[in-house]
Amino acid sequence: MKQKIHAVIKGIGSYVPSKRVSNDDLAKLVDTSDEWIYSHTGIKNRHIAAENEATSDLAVQAAQRALEKAGCPASMVDLILVATATPDYLGFPSTACIVQDRIGAENAGAMDIVAACTGFIYGIETARVFIETGTYKHVLVIGAETLSKITDWKDRNTCVLFGDGAGAALLTACEEVSPKRGVLTSYLASYGKDAEVLLRPVGGTRVPFVPGTTPPEDMFLRMNGRKVYTFAVSVLGKTIETLLKKTGLSLQDIRYIVPHQANVRIIEACAKRLDIPLEKFFLNIEEFANTSAASIPIALTDMERQGLLHPGDLILTVGFGGGLTYGGNILYW
Ligand code: UT7
Repeated sequence: MKQKIHAVIKGIGSYVPSKRVSNDDLAKLVDTSDEWIYSHTGIKNRHIAAENEATSDLAVQAAQRALEKAGCPASMVDLILVATATPDYLGFPSTACIVQDRIGAENAGAMDIVAACTGFIYGIETARVFIETGTYKHVLVIGAETLSKITDWKDRNTCVLFGDGAGAALLTACEEVSPKRGVLTSYLASYGKDAEVLLRPVGGTRVPFVPGTTPPEDMFLRMNGRKVYTFAVSVLGKTIETLLKKTGLSLQDIRYIVPHQANVRIIEACAKRLDIPLEKFFLNIEEFANTSAASIPIALTDMERQGLLHPGDLILTVGFGGGLTYGGNILYW
């Protein structure tokens, strides 16, 4: 029987900055309260990068932990993908190139993936295709964000929601006749029609930064929370159903659903709509808030640390975010 190449997650790791900011801390900055934030989002704390800490600094820590777990020297990595909406620099160089140099991955190509909170899911699928086609053997996928750097700390509609952090996974080629490990399939989708619902309006080529004219607050992220909420509830369900249909699996086959950690209420609404017990979803938003592209790999690392992931378990990741983008993966652990 012909052997097929599978993309197996060999090691994962995460890193969050040490500075921990509670809801009560935020209530000193804007007109909000622990009660409002927790009841509307499920968030209690978030970790915030230091002034001199950029996205690549977090990414490097997570990457080194994932490589160590995998027992893979950085020199063996063929490709580095950094999913981020908060790169060290606008446009170029990519954050992936900075990570490549810092971890000593001297034989790797490097590029960023811009799919906001769905970025890690896009990265996993990109790695799968490169590996299954035999192009690369070792692909490092990183989700890393310092959203605190593009947050308007005077806007209570957004500043209570986000946190900083990074998570990484090393995917390695593995030849087996019958796969019970690795990325089984993915679903990637987008809805660019609503691009303006969640965006950083100024500083790109559509509305460039004009020295002396651009109001500083226009450089921060802007969001229509209600619209994102409605979109999220609908596409989370659609993604789960699409992935199950594509694989012929049922919900009972899935050990855990690992959603993008944006808002517990979004997950609850999706669980209710699809009649899925909430316990099937892994949640750690209470401690880390929404870390965008980092939220799923941080969650997976947390789960591994807690002993929740066993070989052969089927894990379904699902996310949504700026773009708008959405999608998911099914992984054999
Ligand atoms: O990764 C993707 C990123 N984005 C998201 O996931 C966001 C998705 N959206 C959401 O999670 C929710 O829409 C929010 C948590 C952002 C907002 O919750 P909501 O229940 O949709 O609240 P709302 O926007 O309808 O606002 C309700 C009220 C408003 O006051 P009025 O107009 O009714 O007087 C807001 O001004 O809550 C007020 N409000 C706040 N009050 C205290 C909004 N933010 C706050 C706050 N503290 N931080």
